Amino acid sequence: MDVLIRARYSILYVVSWEEDRVERSLREIARKRDKQMFTWTITRGMIQEGEQKNDPSTSDPLRALDFAMEHKDPALFVLRDFDPFLDDPTVERKLRDVSRSFRASYKTLIIVSPVMCIPPHLEKDITVIDYPLPSQEELGTLLQGIVDQVSANPNIRIELDEEGRELLVKAALGLTASEAEDAYAKAVVLNGALDADDVEVVLAEKEQIIRKSGILEFHPADERFSSIGGLDCLKDWLSKRGKAFSESARQFGLPQPRGVLLLGVQGCGKSLSAKAVAGLWHLPLLRLDVGSVFSGVVGSSEQNMRRAMRLSESISPCILWLDELEKGFSGTQSSSFSDAGTTSRVFGSFVTWLQEKTEPVFVIATANDITTLPPELMRKGRFDEIFFIDLPSAPEREEIFRIHLAKRKRDPDGFDLAALAEASVGFSGSEIEQAVISALYDAFDAGREVTQADLLAAIQDTVPLSETRREDIEALREWANDRARPASVHAVEELRTGRRIEF
Ligand SMILES: Nc1ncnc2c1ncn2[C@@H]1O[C@H](COP(=O)(O)OP(=O)(O)OP(=O)(O)O)[C@@H](O)[C@H]1O
Ligand SMILES: [Mg+2]
Repeated sequence: MDVLIRARYSILYVVSWEEDRVERSLREIARKRDKQMFTWTITRGMIQEGEQKNDPSTSDPLRALDFAMEHKDPALFVLRDFDPFLDDPTVERKLRDVSRSFRASYKTLIIVSPVMCIPPHLEKDITVIDYPLPSQEELGTLLQGIVDQVSANPNIRIELDEEGRELLVKAALGLTASEAEDAYAKAVVLNGALDADDVEVVLAEKEQIIRKSGILEFHPADERFSSIGGLDCLKDWLSKRGKAFSESARQFGLPQPRGVLLLGVQGCGKSLSAKAVAGLWHLPLLRLDVGSVFSGVVGSSEQNMRRAMRLSESISPCILWLDELEKGFSGTQSSSFSDAGTTSRVFGSFVTWLQEKTEPVFVIATANDITTLPPELMRKGRFDEIFFIDLPSAPEREEIFRIHLAKRKRDPDGFDLAALAEASVGFSGSEIEQAVISALYDAFDAGREVTQADLLAAIQDTVPLSETRREDIEALREWANDRARPASVHAVEELRTGRRIEF
């Protein structure tokens, strides 16, 4: 912020929930640079730092801007709750005047707001600053403040060594200052003590906050690699990367794994693989709902995305799972017309983060349609690898039948799996699972145990997606052929062209 102010940017827009923290650091800058500081609110108008009296007429946003323009000395003008007025055409015009006139002065206008909503006309005049969440050091100071406060109270025990202190501070990373303060306070109140065990309380608070944010979600990692049929290359690749998060891997000279993009036919195990990796690596799985990043108040999507990235870093090592990428990021090229470029900006910041992040956050993105995804995403260096998950081959289908029969407490060896695999050419893993379930229903309904014939009948009754959407799948294969790595060692049979004919 200091740099931008010194470089004489006229209007800054600071996105943050933490008005107080932002103002504290602005006050510091004003002091160092020997500038006056004014704060504006709609209720009280412009007030100079350290003064009480004000000119009530400056409550009017236009008057406030006039006041700033007429002011002679170097100064910072901090506007709180100003964003609702940005839509007013007169305010907009005046801000552009401010932008021009401030350039030749030592004055800066700073809008502080938790949401970003800059009208397109003003985009060139306003510089957006993403105010960082408290650093480890700041959180340390905050914790010390609480310790000092409660240490006078004889009813509260404080048992914190250096290590415990560091754990508590680390646990609160990703929270705002006031959220962290609340979490620490709650930890003290809960058991009348502050010690290393309170890390759990702070982490639980963080989980709550993550839940409330509505963008990220802790996903139970309840799948195992053994519940995925086939996909041997993918499994092999992932197994090798699991060890790469350790310190010894760093020592060995291995880079931190960045992430994979799983591209593939619907229902063939993309989401399943993401869940299984978390289970395999014993890392928390955070699911990012790409759609909901964009569904909030217009303009806050960028903040949503940034917050999600920061939070995932603060929980690292972890897996960040972006399911069905195309639902959120599709059409970034054309979106500049429909949503003032928000989608492409959010996407841009995601791609940059993907490439530059230093925290051990492993990204697993899944998609089943590449035509709508921005091509930048596929460029080398974004993901470690792009895997293409095709329909399962015959031996893989056998394995998938085996898994789903066993899952439903049937002995797979009591069935002719090879015959089932042969009958289910073109089926996805999910369709195989559905066929097993439907055969079970039929048997249950008839009051007997499920048989090979039930399974074959269920297969016969299914028209797999690969028949109805053959062109789409073939286009995807074509695309993936020289751009992605196959997830499986086996080649798949020719797809059938139409409905099977029964004689
Ligand atoms: N290779 C597989 N082995 C075992 N089960 C599978 C496999 N592929 C799919 N399934 C079954 O199908 C279900 C759906 O698969 P999944 O959700 O992983 O598909 P997806 O590739 O994410 O599809 P979509 O593109 O529709 O999201 C899984 O929960 C699992 O039960
Ligand atoms: Mg899926």
